[in-house]
Amino acid sequence: MSNYDVKDTGLAQAGKLRIEWAEAEMPVLRQIRERFARELPLKGQTLGACLHVTTETANLMLTLKAGGAECFLCASNPLSTQDEVAAYLATEAGIPTFAIKGEDHETYYRHIHAVLDQRPTLTMDDGADLVTILHTERRDLLDQVLGGTEETTTGVIRLRSMQREGMLHYPIVAVNDALTKHMFDNRYGTGQSTIDGILRATNRLLAGRNFVVAGYGWCGRGLALRAAGLGAHVIVVEVDPRKALEAHMDGYQVMCHLEAARLGSIFCTLTGNINVFRAEHFAVMPDGAIICNSGHFNDEIDIPALEAMSVSKREVRPMVVEYTMPDGRRLYLLAEGRLINLASAEGHPASVMDMSFANQALCAEFMVREHASLERKVYAVPETIDAEIACLKLAALGIAIDSLTPEQEAYLASWQSGT
Ligand code: ADE
Repeated sequence: MSNYDVKDTGLAQAGKLRIEWAEAEMPVLRQIRERFARELPLKGQTLGACLHVTTETANLMLTLKAGGAECFLCASNPLSTQDEVAAYLATEAGIPTFAIKGEDHETYYRHIHAVLDQRPTLTMDDGADLVTILHTERRDLLDQVLGGTEETTTGVIRLRSMQREGMLHYPIVAVNDALTKHMFDNRYGTGQSTIDGILRATNRLLAGRNFVVAGYGWCGRGLALRAAGLGAHVIVVEVDPRKALEAHMDGYQVMCHLEAARLGSIFCTLTGNINVFRAEHFAVMPDGAIICNSGHFNDEIDIPALEAMSVSKREVRPMVVEYTMPDGRRLYLLAEGRLINLASAEGHPASVMDMSFANQALCAEFMVREHASLERKVYAVPETIDAEIACLKLAALGIAIDSLTPEQEAYLASWQSGT
């Protein structure tokens, strides 16, 4: 394979403009990039990244390259690549990129292998596919890896499982677990970009509709908030009793899945689990129901069951497939059940990715500096990094806040005063 694989190199100029547009909303990452260019903290490192190839990711890769790393990038989802961005990175930014929107399964994994062929010393993953291939099919490369970072909830869950089974070969920082990541990216990013994806795919009015949100984690909370903001009647289905209670007190209707399936008009799953919408639900969903996924993998909707139950299917709009059931009901599956916010829209806006990717850049630097003292474990983002990013973001937004007075600090550190 050549040293990149993109759809069309002629798209590079369009990609450059879009990357600049995102950069304007990424002041924290920009400051880190300026410091990295002076200090070169990643000098001598080879970074293998498996991320959604978007304008925001391009700004992260440019930052890591400015820090001295040789960077190689592949897609973390077959449908999320922005082909203009891949073209610019590969041909003009000196960042070999292996990513084509709509690539098939075989190409997706060939691209991961192409990045691993560069013998990375650092990994940066979104969903842990690259790390999994490294730990299964490419174990010969493991010893030279110092450490890695992981972007998303699903990836962190997979890595913790590897750690529990004694499989994890090098330390990885769980970027997702930083407050400046999941409180903003997972909630406000997913909330807005998922609505954006559904609207771009369907152009349906949300006001007055029953909108079913499956899963009330940070992503589900964000989606429920934004769907309600557009006038939808939000129904939450959730298996965790605490989160279900929270959804109830946040003002949403909470019910069992099967009941929600009968009532819903738009269904979106964001649970990180498998077969959340399945045959028993498809059997009762109303005619015209729209079904989509905004969780990391495309296994939250049991598509094989939908295929088996339907009598015909056709694509009625880009990214919208109509399945006709034996009783004549039509169900609409968006974006092949893949991440609707990245497949039909552009993913989270740059302003939240600014903080997520500032965490990525600073955690890569942390890993290079500290790897010798770390074990083969999943680590939290250091508190200092998380807090620094919040301070930089506030400053960039022109928001000043107070700090504790010495008296208040002493009070909080003491136990003597009470009633
Ligand atoms: N994940 C969600 N939105 C994203 C974006 N805009 N870029 C990269 N990864 C993302």
